[in-house]
Amino acid sequence: MARVFSGIQPTGDIHIGNYLGAVRNWVKLQDEHECIFSIVDLHAMTIPYDAKAMPREVLDKAATLIACGIDPERSILYVQSHVREHTELCWILNTITPLGQLERMTQFKDKARQHKQNVNAGLLNYPILQAADILLYKAEMVPVGEDQTQHLELTRDLARKFNHLFGETFPEPKTLLPEHAARVMALNDPTSKMSKSVPGSYIALHAEPDEIRALVRRAVTDTGPAGDAMSPGVANLFTLLQEFSAPDVVAGFRAAYEDGTLRYVDLKQQLAEDIVKALAPIRERRAALLADLDTLRDMLRDGAERARAIAREVMAEVREKTGLVLG
Ligand code: TYM
Repeated sequence: MARVFSGIQPTGDIHIGNYLGAVRNWVKLQDEHECIFSIVDLHAMTIPYDAKAMPREVLDKAATLIACGIDPERSILYVQSHVREHTELCWILNTITPLGQLERMTQFKDKARQHKQNVNAGLLNYPILQAADILLYKAEMVPVGEDQTQHLELTRDLARKFNHLFGETFPEPKTLLPEHAARVMALNDPTSKMSKSVPGSYIALHAEPDEIRALVRRAVTDTGPAGDAMSPGVANLFTLLQEFSAPDVVAGFRAAYEDGTLRYVDLKQQLAEDIVKALAPIRERRAALLADLDTLRDMLRDGAERARAIAREVMAEVREKTGLVLG
């Protein structure tokens, strides 16, 4: 069974972009792969965050992922910082990463622009920690949304470079994008991606029905004069419709768009109701899981133990190959 690894940050709400871009694929992959999913708290520390709120944020993400269908018995679900080997491998990979490649990362440039007061070294080294996450388990496949492809290219570069310098150790992991919705756009600005850090841009997986309706109603459709091509806002709504609504419903709205009779209010109303229906079971399961935090903590402790068993073995090999073992 090929090994799969992926991660999600604990800060902010898990939204339909995360779900369609990544989490839905994670759930499917569990059937035929050995899956490891991590709540990456060390990554979340690279931008200002509330330390007191962090433990609850982590438990909340665990509950949401399990509510989506991640099975903590079949898969390994754990918190990144609970397996210390991540930071050790990160350091070793640091020493073989070209600074220029880090400085060219789109996500680094975006975040450095957003957080001008706090361009810390962690923000620059973020993708090295991500590479360490994946290589620590010798994962072969990494299911993510499109915004992570550049980080995964770096991961492959580092695997290749490490293997070249120290001998064959890591497989070069494949990026696994979803067929559709690899990049869900923000509802309030369809030229940027839907993002946890921008309120109004996203629908949280635990959003209440009325909140979902209001967010979809306010979604930007056409911003400028109508051209020949579908505007980004309308295209994004069609992407969501494709994912949440029945095929005949999608076909009906597409036909209306083609012959110029589409009313955005109708499209939005239908879409909102279909999202409400799809998210209801996730919202309910999440609430039930959050009512028993001790069980969630136990699940994560067990996940960390299973992850550590693999991580220890790989790090023993890495230490040996990099000359850190005295013999
Ligand atoms: P994060 O927490 O930002 O997002 C988690 C997953 O959701 C996907 N995603 C989206 N997909 C489609 N449309 C969107 N608008 C959208 N927004 C987010 C992301 O691509 C991601 O797959 N750096 C990673 C976390 C990470 C990781 C890893 C991932 C740390 N180590 C190792 C894979 C492997 C991140 O910030 O994801």
